[in-house]
Amino acid sequence: QMLQRALLDTTANTAAVVQEAVSSIETVQTFAGEEEEKRRHSQAVDKMLGLKDQMDVERALFTLVKRALQLAVQVLVLCRGHWQLREGAITTGSLVTFLLYQGKVGRHVQALVFGHGDLLSKAAAGRKILEYLDREPTGITRGTWVPATLRGHITFQRVSFAYPTRPERLILQGVSFELHPGEVTALAGLNGSGKSTCAALLERFYEPEGGEVLLDGVPLRDYEHHYFHRQVALVGQEPVLFSGTIRDNIIFGLEGCGEEEVRAAAAAAGALGFISALDRGFDTGECQGGLAGRGPRHPRPAQPLAFCSTDVGEKGGQLSAGEKQRIAIARALVRRPTVLILDEATSALDGEGEAALQQWMRSGGTKTVLLITHCPRMLEAADRVVVLERGAVVEMGTPAQLRCRRGPYSSLLQR
Ligand SMILES: Nc1ncnc2c1ncn2[C@@H]1O[C@H](COP(=O)(O)OP(=O)(O)O)[C@@H](O)[C@H]1O
Ligand SMILES: [Mg+2]
Repeated sequence: QMLQRALLDTTANTAAVVQEAVSSIETVQTFAGEEEEKRRHSQAVDKMLGLKDQMDVERALFTLVKRALQLAVQVLVLCRGHWQLREGAITTGSLVTFLLYQGKVGRHVQALVFGHGDLLSKAAAGRKILEYLDREPTGITRGTWVPATLRGHITFQRVSFAYPTRPERLILQGVSFELHPGEVTALAGLNGSGKSTCAALLERFYEPEGGEVLLDGVPLRDYEHHYFHRQVALVGQEPVLFSGTIRDNIIFGLEGCGEEEVRAAAAAAGALGFISALDRGFDTGECQGGLAGRGPRHPRPAQPLAFCSTDVGEKGGQLSAGEKQRIAIARALVRRPTVLILDEATSALDGEGEAALQQWMRSGGTKTVLLITHCPRMLEAADRVVVLERGAVVEMGTPAQLRCRRGPYSSLLQR
């Protein structure tokens, strides 16, 4: 069983090595790492084959012992039978009958023994599956609070936090600030100052170690999971798209979403232009996937096609980084979340895109906005700025106030 488990682990590892190399093929090529990846794969395969050989040897030994025992039993029965015949204890008929029955019973016993061996090796695989099924979620998701309306007032109350992988290193130390409904609050700071960590705590990816994060005065963990994530939307630094159409990606997990809503969200995210351009690729009557060089072409009758019907490819690989970012923003906006977190997600927007987004925020598309950005223009347009330095709040106020103080905010602007 132990061998079987080790074999399962190495097989999984070999697959992971291949998957990692293939999905990051551009990085491998950029750094000419083909040989290194080949070596890593060979190592993994060698280890797997070594274990397989070991298992085959064990299996062969097991079969050998089994056959030898079978033979020994047969010899013993014949010798004993012969001896009893000579003694006159049994007749030839009864010996033949015994041998016939013994053969039948033997086959069944053999099947049982074989089955047991198989069962043992399958049990190892079964155990791995059960281990996964038995895992308990680390975050508490038993909240039930579902208020009819939310104001969207967020409070960070002396929040301290360390990542579970490095519990000794405090990333946030007594962080306190508020996000007010109807306002855009910008979170500024150098790389590594803990901005994304604040966003992660606000999305309940982790629990704070000290202090509390409150939404309308209620700890986040008391809110019902689905309700909470419908109200608080995050667009991360590295947006992830799924294979499917642009539309699938925008309405991801949202039911009963109309064409107009998708269009409005795409417009506010500055994505309308390129989506329309891609969609026009279908007008010829052939599905071109919007982009050249992808897979077989499926002939399609010329007909007006739905908006956002272009396939984005695996992980959105057929779009540019900026286009992916804008679709990710549209995905958040279409939900009309009470709290919107944009974590360095606006770098791909041009001036016009920024203006469209600002207008959406101001027109009540969403109530509270937390904007994490390095862009001075976006910082200056915020209602309030919170400056983080090494996991602590060092400055807070309106952009104009902070500029007058000539403190950390001013030096950030000048960078
Ligand atoms: N998943 C993680 N596990 C351990 N440490 C992390 C993790 N994510 C971020 N960190 C560390 O936390 C610190 C703050 O990171 P982050 O909040 O992402 O900074 P920012 O977004 O301000 O650039 C960094 O020093 C980083 O190394
Ligand atoms: Mg970050």
